[in-house]
Amino acid sequence: MEPVELRSERLLLSMPAGDSDVDAIAHYCRDPLFERYLTTPWPYTRDAAVAFVDRFVPQRWADDSEYNWAIRSEQGALLGMVGWRTRGDLGFWMGAEHRGNGYMVEALAAVVEWVFAEPMIDGHAVERIDWETLPGNYASARVARAAGFHFAGIAPVRIPARDGSHPDSWRGMLLRDDDRRIKDGWPL
Ligand SMILES: CC(C)(COP(=O)(O)OP(=O)(O)OC[C@H]1O[C@@H](n2cnc3c(N)ncnc32)[C@H](O)[C@@H]1OP(=O)(O)O)[C@@H](O)C(=O)NCCC(=O)NCCS
Repeated sequence: MEPVELRSERLLLSMPAGDSDVDAIAHYCRDPLFERYLTTPWPYTRDAAVAFVDRFVPQRWADDSEYNWAIRSEQGALLGMVGWRTRGDLGFWMGAEHRGNGYMVEALAAVVEWVFAEPMIDGHAVERIDWETLPGNYASARVARAAGFHFAGIAPVRIPARDGSHPDSWRGMLLRDDDRRIKDGWPL
């Protein structure tokens, strides 16, 4: 699919591209929280950001395996990233300087509505969106809870850790017909 742009009240979501996005991603992905909670390369180099922006992201839009959006301010500055893996799950991060403003919840809501509204993604309409994170990542879980996800229990991660292991994760899910209100049952 051709890359899609999304808008919300304060944000523009669009495919990352160009040197200033590379620099921003290289900067934000050196955050120690990323070593702990994400599977992005570690230590993170500028070359990793170049490979992500120039090859990984456009190839995956083109082959419909994963849609990644830069989360941008109205002025266009890259604040964070959100990705939808079309086999079913969402991943996201927000640059440390921009956290706590509700941007991630706002961006996630825009992606969720788009995913459920698209009639055909990778050959099928999406009925369910999954989320997972390592236990203890309260910020991530609060984002999923605020977006209306159900807590779905503890199970090994789907996306292996950097060493190939599958530690336990907190799981969440949202069905197409669910309301978007906050659900009980989260370990928060
Ligand atoms: C998870 C993350 C994206 C949240 O970004 P954010 O911009 O702070 O999110 P928002 O401002 O939209 O806040 C959403 C919720 O998180 C809560 N939150 C933010 N930072 C938090 C923290 N350090 N600890 C606990 N809760 C936190 C907010 O209070 C809010 O919860 P509420 O709606 O119940 O009040 C950000 O912390 C991050 O990038 N973390 C590192 C990468 C990561 O773990 N990504 C998720 C992998 S699954």
